[in-house]
Amino acid sequence: MSFFSTKKSPASSGNRPSGFEYLSANDCYMDTACQSLRPQPVIDAEMEYYKQYNACGGRAKHKWGQRVDEKVEAARAKLLALSGKSANEYAVAFTLNATYGINLVLQQIPAGGISSIVTSETEHNSVFLPSITWSRRNNVPRKILKRDDNGTLAITGEDLSNALVIVSTLSNIDGRGLPNAKEIAAAVHKGSGLLLIDAAQHIGHDPQGLKGIDFDAAFCSGHKMYAPSCGFIIIRRTLLRRLEPFFIGGGTVSDVHGNDFTLLKGPVDEHSILEPGLQSWAGIVGLNAAIDWLAAVKPMGKSPKAYEEELAAALFSKLKAMPRIHMMNSVPRPVMSFYVDNLDAHKLAIFLSEQQIMCRSGHFCCHHYLEHERKLPPLLRVSLGLHNTASDIERFLSVLGTIVKTF
Ligand SMILES: Cc1ncc(COP(=O)(O)O)c(C=O)c1O
Repeated sequence: MSFFSTKKSPASSGNRPSGFEYLSANDCYMDTACQSLRPQPVIDAEMEYYKQYNACGGRAKHKWGQRVDEKVEAARAKLLALSGKSANEYAVAFTLNATYGINLVLQQIPAGGISSIVTSETEHNSVFLPSITWSRRNNVPRKILKRDDNGTLAITGEDLSNALVIVSTLSNIDGRGLPNAKEIAAAVHKGSGLLLIDAAQHIGHDPQGLKGIDFDAAFCSGHKMYAPSCGFIIIRRTLLRRLEPFFIGGGTVSDVHGNDFTLLKGPVDEHSILEPGLQSWAGIVGLNAAIDWLAAVKPMGKSPKAYEEELAAALFSKLKAMPRIHMMNSVPRPVMSFYVDNLDAHKLAIFLSEQQIMCRSGHFCCHHYLEHERKLPPLLRVSLGLHNTASDIERFLSVLGTIVKTF
């Protein structure tokens, strides 16, 4: 683009947390809400698996298989610890991604005892659509509740005691959370209700954030928390036992004979009904490494959450003051969206990309809320990760300022 100076930015890879040395100083990736960059130890762990013990887990008695099992079980234990849950009460199952996990669990929940399925207006299609199909198939009413700017779900006056509530704990539009998660959990647990949370965005931006939420199942994305592409489900064992499994096969049974089969049911392997077939072993090995990396990383001496909050605050205050910009966020969060008067967000994303700045444009799989409720044009989303630096923020703002002045 001729209207830009060709001068290289001062973005320095020197103050990125270690693990992202492979980035060049001008690489400015701001699409972590889609998938985070993978730090070198995660890439190394995955490569090591391929080169040294490329076997399957859960079945093989040979040494390589045993090594896979150790990593997979270590990852399960670390995910429980990270979410503050005990192995007595909860199990962990690995999946393809959060969407697959949501569908797998939700569609196997029998309707008995459930009076309604409740979701919110801001949900990602990966929650919104399965909640529609579950409601239609089971002929159980579906309700869409409002959420305020802070993310609080409008439950006042709602009887949730037998409701199946499925909502996100961190929005992929503007990072809003679920401040009344405790109240929602208490309300559904008065009866036979359930709280399912879409935590796809949560751990990557706030590693300790699931602690204290009394969920029945949480659906997460490895690829949004520095791991390879994979997903996982943290599920209360009582819910696991309540499922009516129909998506089953290899790895889910203890015996099969003629027209009958017995599913694996022991506490050590009952998660298996959610893991039909071979898993992404390299992905899980990488996830195990990503959890360790997230626990150890201290960008600029800060916790991951505090570091991202600081970057977000710097970005938000400047963005808010720029002419023609309309922010979705009322407060700074590591995920921010906005539109610019008379400038198409898709074009803006292309202009930014020409300067090596990767941002997302569109409605981010939240059509109901953004297009139909809010009637908003496509937005530009900036989502931060631990590889981002203060220099990235400055460069983004400077390039954006030039584009907005020019068009
Ligand atoms: C809030 C939210 N929920 C669910 C998903 C789906 O995640 P996955 O890609 O792991 O299926 C996404 C993906 O962007 C998301 O942002």
